[in-house]
Amino acid sequence: MLQLGASLFLVLALCHSAYGKLVPDFIHPCNATTRECLVRSTQDAIPDFVRGMPDLGVPSLDPFVIEKLAIPLTGLKVTFYQGKVSGFRKCIVDNVISELEKRHFVLEFHCNLTIRGQYTAVGRILLFPINGEGDAKVKLTNLRMKVDLNTKYYKDDNGLDHFGIKDYKYSFDYGDRVSFDLKNLFKESKELSSTVLEFLNQNWRTVAEEFGKPIVDYAVELAIRTIEKFFIAVPYHELINVPIPKY
Ligand SMILES: *[C@@H]1O[C@H](CO)[C@@H](O)[C@H](O)[C@H]1NC(C)=O
Ligand SMILES: *[C@@H]1O[C@H](CO)[C@@H](O)[C@H](O)[C@H]1NC(C)=O
Repeated sequence: MLQLGASLFLVLALCHSAYGKLVPDFIHPCNATTRECLVRSTQDAIPDFVRGMPDLGVPSLDPFVIEKLAIPLTGLKVTFYQGKVSGFRKCIVDNVISELEKRHFVLEFHCNLTIRGQYTAVGRILLFPINGEGDAKVKLTNLRMKVDLNTKYYKDDNGLDHFGIKDYKYSFDYGDRVSFDLKNLFKESKELSSTVLEFLNQNWRTVAEEFGKPIVDYAVELAIRTIEKFFIAVPYHELINVPIPKY
């Protein structure tokens, strides 16, 4: 009887540890907030994390979809739609800082990204009246980004602690190169279309700085909201083996 009780207890304990854990296996919790461990464990997690975790309510970031995005520019109205951004799974993590007491978290990485979709552009570029629409492809080489988060802690309904996100800011650099492939910039003229496209590519940094911010803002906001969903699904103690600061 005693033995049956003991094995039943063992079975229950094993079930509990198997089912009680929410965090996916690709998260390797650090035992200390050292740069080395944080960078490695973040790098290890990215390829699977960005595929999404439907059972945890966490959507895919690679690819992620931009259904429709208006880019307001003076004299030119650009709309980007049916877009797909891919490449996040191969991002390289350059630095991670986690200051648990200060509720501060920094992530630096660089990536090659491809954005594909459809666009319409009506207005003027330089002196040319423009009235274009068609396929759009933009490739970014070694886009560098630094995201700086203020975190918070809270308890869920079961009394478990979680990370939360209070606010964030970010900075980025378009990196080594942005290349544009925009079909039909001028519906009336193939030659003018390719001349202007060539011009845009020669001046890629200026063009990216003019057009890019709304798309990058959108991507960062989406990534932050995705991480937030993950924090809602998975409690603090499954993400890091360091006691939570008093709060
Ligand atoms: C943390 O410590 C545990 C137990 O010693 C070990 O199995 C695990 O690999 C460590 N985690 C990391 C990311 O080093
Ligand atoms: C991006 O592509 C360039 C050129 O193909 C390559 O040298 C670089 O290592 C890539 N960067 C990343 C983060 O994969």
